[in-house]
Amino acid sequence: MLSFPRTIGHRGARAYAPENTLAGIRVAAGQGARWVEVDVKLSRDGVPVLMHDDHVDRTTDGRGAVAGLDFADLRDLDAGVRFGPEFAGERIPTLEETLALVLELDLGINLEIKPCPGREVETARVALDAARALWPAGRPAPLVSSFEVPSLETARDHMPDWPRGYLIDRRPRDWRDVADRVEAATINVNASRENARGIAEYLATGRPVLAYTVNDPGRAKELVGLGVAAVFTDRPRDILAVLGG
Ligand code: G3P
Ligand code: MG
Repeated sequence: MLSFPRTIGHRGARAYAPENTLAGIRVAAGQGARWVEVDVKLSRDGVPVLMHDDHVDRTTDGRGAVAGLDFADLRDLDAGVRFGPEFAGERIPTLEETLALVLELDLGINLEIKPCPGREVETARVALDAARALWPAGRPAPLVSSFEVPSLETARDHMPDWPRGYLIDRRPRDWRDVADRVEAATINVNASRENARGIAEYLATGRPVLAYTVNDPGRAKELVGLGVAAVFTDRPRDILAVLGG
């Protein structure tokens, strides 16, 4: 049975701590979030790590493409200092470290497969193998999401029992077919592009709808009123205050 709270920390707690870091996950949990969402991609040498962008420039003190850097190079980078000096020394975490912390903090997790271009299948396979090795049987499985249909198809074939979230930004004409084909358990939509009618259309497929990225408490309440099951937020504390866990 698929179950998740209404408030999910986006990239940890992105407004309060560096995104996709262990510190960010700790902050989200400290604010009361029961689930977090993180972005997973591969280093050049195939280690699954948390990183949103294809390049390290925005979030670290380094430069270059993630797909062009070995894990040892990524590990040398500071993933906290750009956010604030109090986070200096924070490292890019591996997926394994992330899952270990999530389990320690008794959180749930949405693993967004965020492949560098051309690595859609490999990223899903490697990340899910790593996750499967660590995730205790019997514990509610992570939600595995992606914008990339080949990643979702790989997840469907490789890890059929773990629920999949079909991430949509601008919805394609064939979104219903894609959702069926990847056997999506949820549809995860861009809140800034959606209205009541669109959300009703997603809900009519019988799937829970999750919405990103919602930082305004009023909008979060409105979306839940329209039937949205959960929102991803950079500001877990603020959204938890109106939606609860
Ligand atoms: O999974 C929800 C959200 O994280 C998708 O967008 O670009 O923040 O990864 P993005
Ligand atoms: Mg994401």
